[in-house]
Amino acid sequence: MHPFDPGYAQEPYAQLVRDYPGPDVYPATDFRVEWGPVFHRGRLDGTARVLVVGQDPAAHEAITRRILVGTAGRRFQGFLAKLGVDTGYVMVNTFLYSVLGQHGGNAHATDPHIAEYRNSWLDALTAHQPIEAVIALGGLADTAVRTWRRTPAGAAFSGAYQHIPHPTFPDSAAASGADPVEAMTKLVTAWNAALHALEGVITPDTARPLVPYGATLTPADLANIPEADLPAGLPAWMRSDEPWASRQGTTSDEKRATIAVRVPTDLRPF
Ligand code: URA
Repeated sequence: MHPFDPGYAQEPYAQLVRDYPGPDVYPATDFRVEWGPVFHRGRLDGTARVLVVGQDPAAHEAITRRILVGTAGRRFQGFLAKLGVDTGYVMVNTFLYSVLGQHGGNAHATDPHIAEYRNSWLDALTAHQPIEAVIALGGLADTAVRTWRRTPAGAAFSGAYQHIPHPTFPDSAAASGADPVEAMTKLVTAWNAALHALEGVITPDTARPLVPYGATLTPADLANIPEADLPAGLPAWMRSDEPWASRQGTTSDEKRATIAVRVPTDLRPF
């Protein structure tokens, strides 16, 4: 059997995806609008107890049409697994489209038109699902949640809230010159604190003893993206832990226009 994500046929999500903002709201100078919006991942069927707010879709998400499926997604899936949450979650991003550099994200952190549409999703998800906790991944997601909390529906939300470092924070911090060990320590320390705060607050799908992170993220701390989270028929290697999509090109325009998809060598049936 191959479970799959049935998509957005039911209201209120059907209307939300019919009515998504385009380049008039998300300028093409700051967002990769040419790859289209990527809306969510996880349950829309009234069984989500955790609402996760990520940042923006990257190359893997542009292909699978669901968010947080690459490295960031697998790291955070492991966080949820530690809480016994294997299926009862739903994720949306701060931005519908991939951000062109951190500058683009910061410049639009409090954009009211972007917030209006994002708030419609947060309203719908909290109105139609028994959300016990909201988790923001990174600073832009924290701003997004705080912005929503100033609206009537956001103010009425009485569940828990945790803001934790983005799953790829250690990589981006190291790329901009920070000490990689310190960056990783910061991530696991904050994630462990959030795990302890959320344990007992979120009803698990499967109760299991909480195993906190050690000094660094290990392969055992990652979890697979469930098949049921992706559109029907996507091959299993698209959920593997090996990167299979990357932007390619010798000029910035070509790189922006091109995502190379490559079946990992050890996952080929040939
Ligand atoms: N992919 C997403 O969809 N969101 C993130 O925050 C990171 C990667």
